[in-house]
Amino acid sequence: MKINKCGNYKSNTINFFNRVAEKNHGDSYKHYKTVLDWMKGIKIEKILDLGSGRGSFIEKIRENYEYKDVDIYGIDISENMIKKSIDKGINAKFFVGDSENIKFEDEYFDLEICINSFHHYENTEKSVKEMSRVLKKDGVLILGEIYLPKILNFLINKLLPYGTTGDYKIYSSEELESIFKNENLYLEKQKYTFPSIKTYMFRKK
Ligand SMILES: C[S@@+](CC[C@H](N)C(=O)[O-])C[C@H]1O[C@@H](n2cnc3c(N)ncnc32)[C@H](O)[C@@H]1O
Repeated sequence: MKINKCGNYKSNTINFFNRVAEKNHGDSYKHYKTVLDWMKGIKIEKILDLGSGRGSFIEKIRENYEYKDVDIYGIDISENMIKKSIDKGINAKFFVGDSENIKFEDEYFDLEICINSFHHYENTEKSVKEMSRVLKKDGVLILGEIYLPKILNFLINKLLPYGTTGDYKIYSSEELESIFKNENLYLEKQKYTFPSIKTYMFRKK
C-alpha cells in the first residue's frame, strides 16, 4: 500500500488549528512558567506573541500586575484561534497573520514570544528574518519548542510529511542556535523540561 504525503504544510496547519480552536491543544502551557520567569529581567513596552493560539499565554502575562500597561499583540495564521482570543475578551490586539510575513515596522518590539509554533513554519529562513526584523536591537526572543532525543527526532521528521497537522520539522538545539544566529539572534540560555520540551532565549545583537 502506498501512503501519500499530505501536501501543503501551511494549509494543513490552518485547517488543523481552525478545527481545534475550541479545545486546548498540546502541551504549550508547560513553557509558560519558564517564559514568565525569564521575562522578569527584561524592560518591556511592547510584546509580540507569534502563533498566539487561543491567547492563553497572553492571559497569563495579564495576570501579572507589572505588565498591566504593556502593549501586547498576538498573531496567528488560524482565523478561528484569533476569533477565540477576541471572544475571550483578552486585553491585547489580535490579528490573523503569518510569522513568515509580519505586518509590523522594523524594530518595533522589545520581546517576542513563540511557543510551540515554529515547527510549523515551512519557510524557516524567511520567518526568522522577519522575527529579527521587527525586534529592537538588544531585544529578546523566547522560543518554546518540542525537544526529542536524536534518533526519535530523525524518525519523527521522516513521518511529518505524511501527517495532517501541518508540523514541518522538529529541530535540534544546535540547529536552532545556528538558524537564529544567521539573523543576529544569539542564544543566551536554554532550559530542558522532561520529557519533551525546551525553552530558549535569544538576544538580538
Ligand atoms: C500549538 S499552538 C500554540 C499556541 C500558543 N502559542 C500557546 O501557547 O498556546 C501553535 C499555533 O501556531 C499557529 N501557527 C502555525 N503556523 C503559523 C504561522 N506561519 N504564522 C502564525 N501562526 C502560526 C497555529 O495556528 C497555532 O495556533
